[in-house]
Amino acid sequence: MSLTLRYMQLPDIKQVAAIDHSSFQPPWSPDSYAFEIKESSVSHMVVLDRQTNPPPPTKARQNGWLSNLGDKLRGNAQVRNGRGAIVGYGGLWKIEGEAHISTIATHPRQRGNGFGEILLAGMVGKALRLNAEFIVLEVRVSNAIAQSLYQKYGFRRYGRRRNYYRSDNEDAWDMRITMDRETRRRFSRLYQELQDKHVFRDIYSWQARPRR
Ligand SMILES: CC(C)(COP(=O)(O)OP(=O)(O)OC[C@H]1O[C@@H](n2cnc3c(N)ncnc32)[C@H](O)[C@@H]1OP(=O)(O)O)[C@@H](O)C(=O)NCCC(=O)NCCS
Repeated sequence: MSLTLRYMQLPDIKQVAAIDHSSFQPPWSPDSYAFEIKESSVSHMVVLDRQTNPPPPTKARQNGWLSNLGDKLRGNAQVRNGRGAIVGYGGLWKIEGEAHISTIATHPRQRGNGFGEILLAGMVGKALRLNAEFIVLEVRVSNAIAQSLYQKYGFRRYGRRRNYYRSDNEDAWDMRITMDRETRRRFSRLYQELQDKHVFRDIYSWQARPRR
């Protein structure tokens, strides 16, 4: 099995929308995803792609720095030529000093496997690379699982939005982290632990937003 964090692309929308439908009420429309991918210059959509038959190791893989280059090229080739199953997705907007996590979900049958954390770590890493000063998000007050994930990365509640969710008038917590030295240190430790545990390839955090 191989896991790759990469930018969301148009052909991913069908799988992403299926996860969205089983995770949120109301879900985003498929057009919203197309807009985020193609039109919005502030949007950085991510997917976690799982391939069950990863490409066999090549000679380059066994050779020092060539291995990294080989992995990156292989990652890009996978993106172009073959996709695995999308096990989760997320969205990050970056506007001036603020990064905003717009969405995050994992496939209902794949929860509890660490995939949500990989997605969140990818977006926190992206925000750091884009020099965000802080990250904000909204979460249902009843959503203890998501809040626990965010708190693990240092997000704290800083305000309650009354009746924020129109479908049922539930309140939201505004949560945020400032990208200070402590946040960076915590992030580096957690990201390393995640890499050790899951061995995923991250071609999202460091890659520039693909041109459309
Ligand atoms: C929130 C969500 C993305 C988490 O994804 P996941 O793949 O299940 O989470 P992970 O397996 O990576 O777990 C990461 C952390 O989440 C928290 N978590 C996960 N499952 C949990 C559970 N059953 N109970 C409590 N906390 C839990 C823990 O903090 C966990 O860290 P730990 O492993 O160190 O304890 C997923 O539950 C989901 O898609 N939910 C529906 C959509 C949603 O609510 N999105 C958030 C919108 S704000």
